[in-house]
Amino acid sequence: MQFDILVLPGDGIGPEVINEALKVLEVVARKFGHSFNLSQDLVGGAAIDAYGVALKPETAQKARASDALLFGAVGGPKWSDPTASVRPEDGLLALRKAMGVYANIRPVKSYKFLANATPLKPSVVEGVDLIVIRELTGGLYYGLPKRRWNTQRGRRGVDTMKYSEREIERILRVGFELARGRRKKLTSVDKANVLETSRLWRQIAQEMSAEYPDVTVDHQLVDSCSMQLIQNPRRFDVMVMENTFGDILSDEASVLAGSLGMLPSASLAGVPSTDGHRRARGFYEPIHGTAPDIAGQGKANPIATILTVAMMLRYSLGLPKEALAVEQAVDKALESGLRTADIVAAGERAVTTTQMGNAIAEAVARG
Ligand code: IPM
Ligand code: MG
Repeated sequence: MQFDILVLPGDGIGPEVINEALKVLEVVARKFGHSFNLSQDLVGGAAIDAYGVALKPETAQKARASDALLFGAVGGPKWSDPTASVRPEDGLLALRKAMGVYANIRPVKSYKFLANATPLKPSVVEGVDLIVIRELTGGLYYGLPKRRWNTQRGRRGVDTMKYSEREIERILRVGFELARGRRKKLTSVDKANVLETSRLWRQIAQEMSAEYPDVTVDHQLVDSCSMQLIQNPRRFDVMVMENTFGDILSDEASVLAGSLGMLPSASLAGVPSTDGHRRARGFYEPIHGTAPDIAGQGKANPIATILTVAMMLRYSLGLPKEALAVEQAVDKALESGLRTADIVAAGERAVTTTQMGNAIAEAVARG
C-alpha cells in the first residue's frame, strides 16, 4: 500500500527523535512491502527563522491532504520573547485546527523497570495500561464569548464551556470504539453534578451505551476521578472527557509512566478502529516537548516518537500488524537493557538517541 506522510520535525530534540522514528518506518516499509511517500517541511521556531511564520499556509494545506502528519516538537528560548508577534506554538494550534483533529489520544503504560522512577509506590503503578481520550477542538478552549474587559467595579473575564450533541457524540464514539478493541471498560469523566454541558455529555453517553452492549461504562466526576487516577490507576482502561478536563487529567496520568520520554500521542479527525479496517486522518506527536537543554547531544529518548509511529500505523494507515511489530521491537530493546539518559538507573551507562533508534529498527527487521 502507498501512503502520504507529512513530516515536521520542528525544534530542539524534534529533529533527532524524528530521525530515529523515520529509520524505524523505513524498516517497516521494507519488511512489510509498503511505500511511504514522505515529505518534510519546517514548523515552529525553525519556520519562523526561515520564513517569518510558524506555519506556512502551503504546509497546512499539505497536512490536510496527507494520510498522516508526523510531528516532532516546537518552541524554545530563542522564540519565547513574550512581545514577539509570532510564536512557535501558533504552528501547532493552527495545524490541529486545519486538520480538524478533535480526538486526542494519550496512552499511558507503566514499565516495570520505571516503577521506582515515579513518585508513587511501585505497587500502585505496576501494570497500569490506560488511554486518556481528550476532546481537542471544543469546550473552554474555543467557546465564545471569551474575553477580558474593565468595568466600574473592577476587571472581568469570561470563558465559555459549550458543546454540541455532534461534538460530544463523535468523541464518545472514539471512546467506545477503542474500549471495544481493548479491555472493554470505558470511564466517561464529567462534572454532571454542576455543569449543564456535563449533564448533556452523560445523557449522550448513556444513550450510546445501548449501541455498545459489550462495553461497560462507568461515569465518574472529574474531581474524584483525579483521586482514583493516583490511588488505583489499574482500574482504568479507556477514559474519555472534554477538553479542559483532558488537559489536566492527561498530565496527571503521564506521571504514572515514570518518564515523558516514553509517551506517544495521536490526534484524530475521525473514529478509528483498532483492527485497521477503519482509518482516520491524524496528527502524531510525542508528548514531551523540545527539551532545549539536551538538544543536539544525543541524549533524547526516541521511544515516545517511535511509539507515536506505531499509533500512526494503527490509526491512520490501517496497519495494526506493523504497529504491533514496532511496539514489540521497543519492548525488545528495553528488555535487552538499553536505556537512554532519562530512564537509565543510577550508576549505569546510557545509550545515545541513535543507538536506541538503531536497536529498535534492527529488532523490527529481525521480527
Ligand atoms: C497540551 C498543552 C496545550 C494544550 C497547550 C500548550 C496549549 O498543554 O497539548 O496538553 O493545553 O492543549
Ligand atoms: Mg496540557
